[in-house]
Amino acid sequence: MKIAVVGTGYVGLVTGTCLAETGNHVVCVDINQEKVAQMQAGIVPIYEPHLDTLFHRNIKDGRLTFTTQLAEAIKDVAIIFLALPTPPGEDGSADLRYILGVAADLGHLLQDYKVVVDKSTVPVGTAEKVGAEISKHYKGEFDVVSNPEFLREGFAVDDFMKPDRVVIGTSSPRAKKVMEELYKPYVRQGNPILFMDEKSAELTKYAANAFLATKITFMNEVANLCELLGADVDAVRIGIGSDDRIGKRFLFPGIGYGGSCFPKDVQALAKSSSEVGYRFNLLESVMNVNEKQKTALLPKIKSYFGNDLKNRTFALWGLAFKPDTDDIREAPALYIVDALLKEGANVVAYDPEAMPNVQKQLGTSIEYAKDPYQACAGADALIIATEWGQFRTPDFALMGQNLKQKVVFDGRNLFDVEQMRQLGYHYASIGRTLVSG
Ligand SMILES: NC(=O)c1ccc[n+]([C@@H]2O[C@H](COP(=O)([O-])OP(=O)(O)OC[C@H]3O[C@@H](n4cnc5c(N)ncnc54)[C@H](O)[C@@H]3O)[C@@H](O)[C@H]2O)c1
Repeated sequence: MKIAVVGTGYVGLVTGTCLAETGNHVVCVDINQEKVAQMQAGIVPIYEPHLDTLFHRNIKDGRLTFTTQLAEAIKDVAIIFLALPTPPGEDGSADLRYILGVAADLGHLLQDYKVVVDKSTVPVGTAEKVGAEISKHYKGEFDVVSNPEFLREGFAVDDFMKPDRVVIGTSSPRAKKVMEELYKPYVRQGNPILFMDEKSAELTKYAANAFLATKITFMNEVANLCELLGADVDAVRIGIGSDDRIGKRFLFPGIGYGGSCFPKDVQALAKSSSEVGYRFNLLESVMNVNEKQKTALLPKIKSYFGNDLKNRTFALWGLAFKPDTDDIREAPALYIVDALLKEGANVVAYDPEAMPNVQKQLGTSIEYAKDPYQACAGADALIIATEWGQFRTPDFALMGQNLKQKVVFDGRNLFDVEQMRQLGYHYASIGRTLVSG
Protein backbone atom coordinates (compact mmCIF):
# COMPACT_ATOMS: atom_id res chain seq x y z
CA MET A 1 0.00 0.00 0.00
CA LYS A 2 1.06 3.60 -0.45
CA ILE A 3 0.91 5.61 2.74
CA ALA A 4 1.68 9.13 3.90
CA VAL A 5 2.56 9.84 7.54
CA VAL A 6 2.21 13.48 8.54
CA GLY A 7 4.42 14.40 11.51
CA THR A 8 7.64 12.50 12.01
CA GLY A 9 8.19 12.66 15.76
CA TYR A 10 8.48 9.69 18.10
CA VAL A 11 5.19 8.24 16.86
CA GLY A 12 5.21 9.30 13.20
CA LEU A 13 8.73 8.20 12.39
CA VAL A 14 8.31 4.85 14.11
CA THR A 15 4.93 4.36 12.41
CA GLY A 16 6.28 5.28 8.98
CA THR A 17 9.38 3.14 9.31
CA CYS A 18 7.54 0.11 10.66
CA LEU A 19 4.86 0.37 7.96
CA ALA A 20 7.61 0.39 5.32
CA GLU A 21 9.17 -2.67 6.97
CA THR A 22 6.24 -4.86 5.87
CA GLY A 23 6.48 -3.77 2.23
CA ASN A 24 4.39 -0.61 2.13
CA HIS A 25 5.68 2.52 0.41
CA VAL A 26 5.70 5.33 2.94
CA VAL A 27 6.26 9.05 2.52
CA CYS A 28 6.89 10.88 5.80
CA VAL A 29 5.98 14.55 5.90
CA ASP A 30 7.14 17.13 8.41
CA ILE A 31 7.13 20.92 8.49
CA ASN A 32 10.48 20.94 10.28
CA GLN A 33 12.84 21.39 7.34
CA GLU A 34 15.95 20.67 9.36
CA LYS A 35 14.50 17.36 10.53
CA VAL A 36 13.47 16.38 7.00
CA ALA A 37 16.92 17.29 5.65
CA GLN A 38 18.49 15.11 8.37
CA MET A 39 16.27 12.15 7.50
CA GLN A 40 16.89 12.61 3.78
CA ALA A 41 20.60 12.46 4.64
CA GLY A 42 20.02 9.13 6.42
CA ILE A 43 20.14 10.48 9.99
CA VAL A 44 17.56 9.31 12.55
CA PRO A 45 16.61 12.53 14.39
CA ILE A 46 15.52 10.82 17.65
CA TYR A 47 17.02 8.15 19.87
CA GLU A 48 14.87 5.03 19.78
CA PRO A 49 16.48 1.59 20.14
CA HIS A 50 16.49 -0.53 16.94
CA LEU A 51 14.85 2.15 14.83
CA ASP A 52 18.05 2.89 12.87
CA THR A 53 18.31 -0.62 11.39
CA LEU A 54 14.79 -0.53 9.96
CA PHE A 55 15.15 3.12 8.95
CA HIS A 56 18.28 2.51 6.87
CA ARG A 57 17.00 -0.73 5.37
CA ASN A 58 13.76 0.79 4.13
CA ILE A 59 15.40 3.93 2.77
CA LYS A 60 17.89 1.74 0.90
CA ASP A 61 15.07 -0.40 -0.52
CA GLY A 62 13.21 2.71 -1.68
CA ARG A 63 10.15 2.21 0.55
CA LEU A 64 10.74 5.13 2.92
CA THR A 65 11.08 8.75 1.80
CA PHE A 66 10.81 12.17 3.42
CA THR A 67 9.44 15.50 2.33
CA THR A 68 8.16 18.83 3.61
CA GLN A 69 5.52 18.92 0.85
CA LEU A 70 2.14 17.59 1.97
CA ALA A 71 0.61 17.94 -1.52
CA GLU A 72 3.32 15.83 -3.13
CA ALA A 73 3.23 13.24 -0.33
CA ILE A 74 -0.48 12.44 -0.48
CA LYS A 75 -0.90 12.31 -4.26
CA ASP A 76 -1.04 8.54 -4.81
CA VAL A 77 -1.57 7.20 -1.31
CA ALA A 78 -4.47 5.16 0.06
CA ILE A 79 -3.96 6.16 3.70
CA ILE A 80 -2.86 9.38 5.38
CA PHE A 81 -1.72 9.04 9.00
CA LEU A 82 -1.79 12.10 11.23
CA ALA A 83 0.93 11.73 13.88
CA LEU A 84 0.92 15.35 14.94
CA PRO A 85 1.47 16.93 18.36
CA THR A 86 -1.51 17.40 20.68
CA PRO A 87 0.12 19.42 23.47
CA PRO A 88 -1.87 20.72 26.41
CA GLY A 89 -3.53 24.05 25.74
CA GLU A 90 -3.64 26.74 28.41
CA ASP A 91 -6.72 25.26 30.06
CA GLY A 92 -5.32 21.70 30.06
CA SER A 93 -7.38 20.47 27.11
CA ALA A 94 -5.58 18.98 24.10
CA ASP A 95 -4.58 21.65 21.61
CA LEU A 96 -5.93 20.47 18.26
CA ARG A 97 -4.48 23.24 16.13
CA TYR A 98 -1.90 20.98 14.43
CA ILE A 99 -4.43 18.26 13.62
CA LEU A 100 -7.15 20.60 12.43
CA GLY A 101 -4.62 22.69 10.51
CA VAL A 102 -3.51 19.68 8.50
CA ALA A 103 -7.15 18.57 8.12
CA ALA A 104 -7.91 21.97 6.55
CA ASP A 105 -4.91 21.57 4.21
CA LEU A 106 -6.20 18.13 3.23
CA GLY A 107 -9.58 19.65 2.42
CA HIS A 108 -7.85 21.71 -0.26
CA LEU A 109 -5.68 18.86 -1.52
CA LEU A 110 -7.80 15.70 -1.64
CA GLN A 111 -8.98 14.61 -5.06
CA ASP A 112 -10.05 11.03 -4.53
CA TYR A 113 -10.97 8.59 -1.72
CA LYS A 114 -8.47 8.38 1.11
CA VAL A 115 -8.53 7.00 4.61
CA VAL A 116 -7.36 9.72 7.00
CA VAL A 117 -6.12 8.15 10.23
CA ASP A 118 -5.79 9.97 13.54
CA LYS A 119 -2.79 8.40 15.27
CA SER A 120 -2.31 11.28 17.64
CA THR A 121 -3.90 11.10 21.07
CA VAL A 122 -7.01 13.22 20.68
CA PRO A 123 -10.15 13.94 22.72
CA VAL A 124 -13.45 12.27 21.98
CA GLY A 125 -15.09 13.92 19.01
CA THR A 126 -11.89 14.79 17.16
CA ALA A 127 -12.50 12.37 14.26
CA GLU A 128 -15.76 14.23 13.65
CA LYS A 129 -13.97 17.59 13.78
CA VAL A 130 -11.29 16.41 11.35
CA GLY A 131 -14.00 15.17 8.98
CA ALA A 132 -15.87 18.47 9.22
CA GLU A 133 -12.68 20.45 8.53
CA ILE A 134 -11.86 18.38 5.44
CA SER A 135 -15.45 18.63 4.20
CA LYS A 136 -15.34 22.41 4.20
CA HIS A 137 -13.39 22.31 0.94
CA TYR A 138 -13.53 18.73 -0.33
CA LYS A 139 -16.87 17.32 -1.37
CA GLY A 140 -15.64 13.88 -2.49
CA GLU A 141 -15.47 10.63 -0.53
CA PHE A 142 -13.08 10.02 2.38
CA ASP A 143 -13.15 8.41 5.81
CA VAL A 144 -11.60 9.52 9.09
CA VAL A 145 -10.49 6.68 11.33
CA SER A 146 -9.30 6.86 14.94
CA ASN A 147 -6.30 4.58 15.44
CA PRO A 148 -4.63 5.58 18.72
CA GLU A 149 -1.04 4.54 19.25
CA PHE A 150 0.08 2.62 22.33
CA LEU A 151 3.81 2.36 21.67
CA ARG A 152 6.22 3.07 24.50
CA GLU A 153 9.31 5.15 23.85
CA GLY A 154 12.30 2.89 24.36
CA PHE A 155 10.34 -0.13 23.04
CA ALA A 156 8.59 1.64 20.20
CA VAL A 157 9.72 -0.55 17.31
CA ASP A 158 8.82 -3.77 19.08
CA ASP A 159 5.51 -2.33 20.27
CA PHE A 160 4.60 -1.29 16.73
CA MET A 161 5.73 -4.49 15.06
CA LYS A 162 4.04 -6.73 17.67
CA PRO A 163 1.29 -4.71 19.34
CA ASP A 164 -0.72 -6.16 22.24
CA ARG A 165 -3.73 -4.92 20.34
CA VAL A 166 -4.60 -2.53 17.54
CA VAL A 167 -7.55 -0.24 18.24
CA ILE A 168 -9.45 1.05 15.24
CA GLY A 169 -12.42 3.33 15.51
CA THR A 170 -14.49 3.56 12.37
CA SER A 171 -18.08 3.33 11.28
CA SER A 172 -17.12 2.85 7.62
CA PRO A 173 -16.95 -0.72 6.24
CA ARG A 174 -14.69 0.55 3.43
CA ALA A 175 -12.14 2.05 5.83
CA LYS A 176 -12.37 -1.00 8.07
CA LYS A 177 -11.27 -3.22 5.18
CA VAL A 178 -8.31 -0.98 4.35
CA MET A 179 -7.15 -0.85 7.99
CA GLU A 180 -7.59 -4.61 8.47
CA GLU A 181 -5.43 -5.26 5.41
CA LEU A 182 -2.78 -2.81 6.61
CA TYR A 183 -2.43 -4.25 10.12
CA LYS A 184 -2.68 -7.95 9.22
CA PRO A 185 1.11 -8.50 9.15
CA TYR A 186 1.47 -7.03 12.65
CA VAL A 187 -0.97 -9.34 14.45
CA ARG A 188 0.04 -12.70 13.07
CA GLN A 189 0.66 -13.98 16.61
CA GLY A 190 -3.06 -13.64 17.22
CA ASN A 191 -3.24 -10.36 19.09
CA PRO A 192 -6.53 -8.65 18.31
CA ILE A 193 -7.46 -5.81 16.01
CA LEU A 194 -10.28 -4.25 17.99
CA PHE A 195 -12.83 -2.45 15.84
CA MET A 196 -15.11 0.03 17.55
CA ASP A 197 -16.72 3.38 16.96
CA GLU A 198 -14.50 6.46 16.67
CA LYS A 199 -15.41 7.95 20.05
CA SER A 200 -14.71 4.73 21.95
CA ALA A 201 -11.33 4.41 20.22
CA GLU A 202 -10.42 7.97 21.15
CA LEU A 203 -11.43 7.39 24.77
CA THR A 204 -9.63 4.03 24.95
CA LYS A 205 -6.26 5.75 24.56
CA TYR A 206 -6.94 8.33 27.29
CA ALA A 207 -8.41 5.72 29.62
CA ALA A 208 -5.36 3.47 29.15
CA ASN A 209 -2.87 6.23 29.94
CA ALA A 210 -4.93 7.59 32.81
CA PHE A 211 -5.18 4.10 34.32
CA LEU A 212 -1.42 3.53 34.07
CA ALA A 213 -0.68 6.95 35.57
CA THR A 214 -3.09 6.12 38.40
CA LYS A 215 -1.41 2.77 39.04
CA ILE A 216 2.02 4.43 39.33
CA THR A 217 0.62 7.17 41.52
CA PHE A 218 -1.14 4.72 43.83
CA MET A 219 2.16 2.95 44.39
CA ASN A 220 3.95 6.24 45.01
CA GLU A 221 1.46 7.04 47.73
CA VAL A 222 1.92 3.58 49.25
CA ALA A 223 5.69 4.25 49.17
CA ASN A 224 5.27 7.58 50.96
CA LEU A 225 3.19 5.83 53.59
CA CYS A 226 5.81 3.06 53.94
CA GLU A 227 8.39 5.66 54.91
CA LEU A 228 6.17 7.01 57.67
CA LEU A 229 5.13 3.58 58.96
CA GLY A 230 8.52 1.87 58.68
CA ALA A 231 7.36 -0.64 56.06
CA ASP A 232 9.32 -1.66 52.97
CA VAL A 233 7.67 -0.76 49.69
CA ASP A 234 9.53 -3.49 47.79
CA ALA A 235 7.99 -6.14 49.99
CA VAL A 236 4.56 -4.56 49.67
CA ARG A 237 4.97 -4.21 45.90
CA ILE A 238 5.80 -7.89 45.47
CA GLY A 239 3.12 -8.80 48.00
CA ILE A 240 0.36 -7.11 46.02
CA GLY A 241 1.79 -7.69 42.53
CA SER A 242 1.64 -11.46 42.95
CA ASP A 243 -2.13 -11.15 42.79
CA ASP A 244 -3.09 -11.63 39.13
CA ARG A 245 -5.86 -9.10 39.47
CA ILE A 246 -3.25 -6.44 40.31
CA GLY A 247 -0.28 -7.65 38.26
CA LYS A 248 3.44 -7.05 38.72
CA ARG A 249 3.93 -4.29 36.18
CA PHE A 250 3.77 -0.55 36.77
CA LEU A 251 4.12 -0.97 40.51
CA PHE A 252 7.60 0.49 40.93
CA PRO A 253 7.53 3.61 43.08
CA GLY A 254 9.68 6.58 42.19
CA ILE A 255 9.77 10.31 41.64
CA GLY A 256 6.62 10.43 39.57
CA TYR A 257 5.62 9.92 35.98
CA GLY A 258 6.68 12.33 33.26
CA GLY A 259 7.08 12.26 29.51
CA SER A 260 5.10 13.64 26.65
CA CYS A 261 2.02 11.48 27.25
CA PHE A 262 0.90 10.67 30.80
CA PRO A 263 0.91 14.24 32.20
CA LYS A 264 -0.89 15.79 29.25
CA ASP A 265 -3.28 12.89 28.71
CA VAL A 266 -4.40 12.73 32.34
CA GLN A 267 -4.91 16.48 32.27
CA ALA A 268 -6.80 16.35 28.98
CA LEU A 269 -9.10 13.56 30.17
CA ALA A 270 -9.90 15.47 33.35
CA LYS A 271 -10.64 18.52 31.23
CA SER A 272 -12.80 16.57 28.76
CA SER A 273 -14.73 15.19 31.72
CA SER A 274 -15.35 18.61 33.21
CA GLU A 275 -16.56 19.88 29.85
CA VAL A 276 -19.41 17.40 29.95
CA GLY A 277 -20.19 18.20 33.58
CA TYR A 278 -18.39 15.25 35.15
CA ARG A 279 -15.76 15.80 37.83
CA PHE A 280 -13.15 13.04 37.52
CA ASN A 281 -12.01 13.30 41.16
CA LEU A 282 -9.57 10.43 40.93
CA LEU A 283 -7.59 12.05 38.12
CA GLU A 284 -7.42 15.34 39.99
CA SER A 285 -5.78 13.51 42.90
CA VAL A 286 -3.42 11.67 40.56
CA MET A 287 -2.22 14.97 39.10
CA ASN A 288 -1.77 16.58 42.53
CA VAL A 289 0.12 13.64 43.98
CA ASN A 290 2.37 13.33 40.94
CA GLU A 291 3.21 17.02 41.00
CA LYS A 292 4.53 16.67 44.56
CA GLN A 293 6.21 13.35 43.89
CA LYS A 294 8.53 14.80 41.23
CA THR A 295 10.42 16.65 43.94
CA ALA A 296 9.94 14.04 46.70
CA LEU A 297 13.72 13.77 47.10
CA LEU A 298 14.11 17.46 47.86
CA PRO A 299 13.06 17.42 51.55
CA LYS A 300 15.40 14.45 52.09
CA ILE A 301 18.29 16.29 50.45
CA LYS A 302 17.62 19.50 52.33
CA SER A 303 17.28 17.77 55.63
CA TYR A 304 20.63 15.98 55.14
CA PHE A 305 22.40 19.25 54.35
CA GLY A 306 20.83 21.22 57.22
CA ASN A 307 18.43 23.07 54.92
CA ASP A 308 21.24 24.88 53.13
CA LEU A 309 22.12 23.77 49.61
CA LYS A 310 23.85 26.99 48.59
CA ASN A 311 27.06 26.24 46.66
CA ARG A 312 26.63 22.50 47.17
CA THR A 313 27.32 20.46 44.06
CA PHE A 314 25.08 17.56 43.07
CA ALA A 315 25.84 14.83 40.58
CA LEU A 316 22.65 13.92 38.72
CA TRP A 317 22.34 10.60 36.94
CA GLY A 318 19.55 10.60 34.37
CA LEU A 319 17.75 13.45 32.62
CA ALA A 320 15.37 11.64 30.25
CA PHE A 321 11.87 11.07 31.62
CA LYS A 322 12.58 7.34 31.48
CA PRO A 323 15.42 5.10 30.30
CA ASP A 324 16.11 4.25 26.65
CA THR A 325 14.89 7.54 25.25
CA ASP A 326 16.28 11.03 24.71
CA ASP A 327 12.83 12.53 25.42
CA ILE A 328 12.94 15.07 28.27
CA ARG A 329 9.38 16.36 28.09
CA GLU A 330 8.04 16.70 31.66
CA ALA A 331 11.04 14.76 32.98
CA PRO A 332 11.12 14.68 36.80
CA ALA A 333 14.91 15.26 36.56
CA LEU A 334 14.25 18.75 35.22
CA TYR A 335 11.99 19.60 38.16
CA ILE A 336 14.78 18.51 40.51
CA VAL A 337 17.33 20.61 38.60
CA ASP A 338 15.04 23.60 38.80
CA ALA A 339 14.56 23.19 42.56
CA LEU A 340 18.30 22.73 43.18
CA LEU A 341 19.26 25.77 41.13
CA LYS A 342 16.70 27.85 43.02
CA GLU A 343 18.42 26.79 46.25
CA GLY A 344 21.74 28.05 44.89
CA ALA A 345 23.21 24.58 44.28
CA ASN A 346 25.27 23.43 41.28
CA VAL A 347 24.34 20.43 39.17
CA VAL A 348 26.63 18.19 37.12
CA ALA A 349 24.47 15.85 35.07
CA TYR A 350 25.04 12.72 33.06
CA ASP A 351 22.56 10.98 30.76
CA PRO A 352 23.51 8.53 28.00
CA GLU A 353 21.18 10.11 25.40
CA ALA A 354 19.29 13.14 26.68
CA MET A 355 22.08 15.67 27.34
CA PRO A 356 21.88 17.40 23.92
CA ASN A 357 18.14 18.01 24.40
CA VAL A 358 18.67 19.37 27.91
CA GLN A 359 21.51 21.55 26.71
CA LYS A 360 19.13 23.14 24.19
CA GLN A 361 16.71 23.93 27.02
CA LEU A 362 18.97 24.74 29.98
CA GLY A 363 22.20 25.77 28.26
CA THR A 364 25.06 26.21 30.68
CA SER A 365 22.97 26.60 33.82
CA ILE A 366 24.13 23.08 34.67
CA GLU A 367 27.27 21.15 33.73
CA TYR A 368 27.31 18.01 31.62
CA ALA A 369 29.68 15.15 32.38
CA LYS A 370 31.10 12.70 29.89
CA ASP A 371 30.37 9.70 32.09
CA PRO A 372 28.57 8.93 35.36
CA TYR A 373 31.77 8.93 37.42
CA GLN A 374 32.97 12.26 36.11
CA ALA A 375 29.61 13.68 37.24
CA CYS A 376 30.39 12.47 40.78
CA ALA A 377 33.86 14.03 40.91
CA GLY A 378 33.89 16.43 43.85
CA ALA A 379 30.08 16.34 44.26
CA ASP A 380 28.50 16.56 47.70
CA ALA A 381 25.98 13.86 46.79
CA LEU A 382 24.61 11.82 43.91
CA ILE A 383 20.96 12.06 42.86
CA ILE A 384 19.44 9.41 40.60
CA ALA A 385 16.47 10.49 38.49
CA THR A 386 16.28 7.95 35.62
CA GLU A 387 16.75 4.18 35.82
CA TRP A 388 19.10 3.67 32.86
CA GLY A 389 20.38 0.07 32.81
CA GLN A 390 24.00 1.20 33.08
CA PHE A 391 23.33 2.86 36.47
CA ARG A 392 22.10 -0.35 38.07
CA THR A 393 25.44 -1.96 38.82
CA PRO A 394 27.93 0.87 39.03
CA ASP A 395 31.51 0.69 40.22
CA PHE A 396 30.68 1.60 43.81
CA ALA A 397 34.34 1.97 44.73
CA LEU A 398 34.98 4.54 41.99
CA MET A 399 31.69 6.26 42.77
CA GLY A 400 32.66 6.51 46.45
CA GLN A 401 36.16 7.75 45.64
CA ASN A 402 34.84 10.48 43.36
CA LEU A 403 32.06 11.76 45.60
CA LYS A 404 33.13 14.15 48.36
CA GLN A 405 31.07 12.02 50.73
CA LYS A 406 29.22 8.76 50.23
CA VAL A 407 25.71 10.18 49.91
CA VAL A 408 23.09 8.99 47.40
CA PHE A 409 19.48 10.14 46.91
CA ASP A 410 17.89 7.57 44.66
CA GLY A 411 14.57 8.46 43.03
CA ARG A 412 14.34 5.10 41.25
CA ASN A 413 15.27 2.58 43.96
CA LEU A 414 18.15 1.14 41.94
CA PHE A 415 20.27 -0.23 44.75
CA ASP A 416 19.86 -2.72 47.51
CA VAL A 417 19.39 -1.00 50.86
CA GLU A 418 21.47 -3.57 52.75
CA GLN A 419 24.30 -3.38 50.23
CA MET A 420 24.41 0.41 50.54
CA ARG A 421 24.57 0.09 54.33
CA GLN A 422 27.51 -2.31 54.05
CA LEU A 423 29.26 0.01 51.60
CA GLY A 424 28.96 2.83 54.12
CA TYR A 425 26.63 5.12 52.18
CA HIS A 426 24.01 7.52 53.38
CA TYR A 427 21.29 6.20 51.07
CA ALA A 428 17.80 7.64 50.77
CA SER A 429 15.36 6.10 48.30
CA ILE A 430 11.58 5.96 47.87
CA GLY A 431 9.45 4.03 50.37
CA ARG A 432 12.33 2.05 51.85
CA THR A 433 14.46 2.14 54.98
CA LEU A 434 16.76 5.12 55.17
CA VAL A 435 20.40 4.17 55.48
CA SER A 436 21.96 6.94 57.52
CA GLY A 437 25.67 7.06 57.26
N1 LIG B 1 5.63 9.84 22.18
C1 LIG B 1 4.93 8.79 22.56
O1 LIG B 1 5.41 7.90 23.25
C2 LIG B 1 3.48 8.65 22.13
C3 LIG B 1 2.85 7.41 22.27
C4 LIG B 1 1.52 7.28 21.87
C5 LIG B 1 0.84 8.39 21.36
N2 LIG B 1 1.48 9.59 21.25
C6 LIG B 1 0.73 10.71 20.66
O2 LIG B 1 1.14 10.85 19.31
C7 LIG B 1 1.14 12.23 18.93
C8 LIG B 1 2.51 12.63 18.43
O3 LIG B 1 3.43 12.50 19.50
P1 LIG B 1 5.01 12.55 19.28
O4 LIG B 1 5.63 12.24 20.59
O5 LIG B 1 5.38 11.75 18.09
O6 LIG B 1 5.19 14.11 18.94
P2 LIG B 1 6.50 14.85 18.44
O7 LIG B 1 6.41 16.22 18.98
O8 LIG B 1 7.70 14.01 18.72
O9 LIG B 1 6.34 14.88 16.84
C9 LIG B 1 5.41 15.63 16.16
C10 LIG B 1 5.98 16.00 14.79
O10 LIG B 1 4.96 16.66 14.03
C11 LIG B 1 5.59 17.69 13.27
N3 LIG B 1 4.58 18.65 12.82
C12 LIG B 1 3.97 19.64 13.50
N4 LIG B 1 3.10 20.29 12.72
C13 LIG B 1 3.15 19.71 11.49
C14 LIG B 1 2.49 19.92 10.27
N5 LIG B 1 1.58 20.88 10.14
N6 LIG B 1 2.79 19.14 9.22
C15 LIG B 1 3.73 18.17 9.33
N7 LIG B 1 4.40 17.90 10.49
C16 LIG B 1 4.10 18.67 11.55
C17 LIG B 1 6.64 18.25 14.21
O11 LIG B 1 7.63 18.97 13.50
C18 LIG B 1 7.17 16.96 14.85
O12 LIG B 1 8.25 16.42 14.12
C19 LIG B 1 0.66 13.00 20.16
O13 LIG B 1 -0.72 13.17 20.09
C20 LIG B 1 1.00 12.05 21.30
O14 LIG B 1 0.18 12.25 22.41
C21 LIG B 1 2.79 9.74 21.62
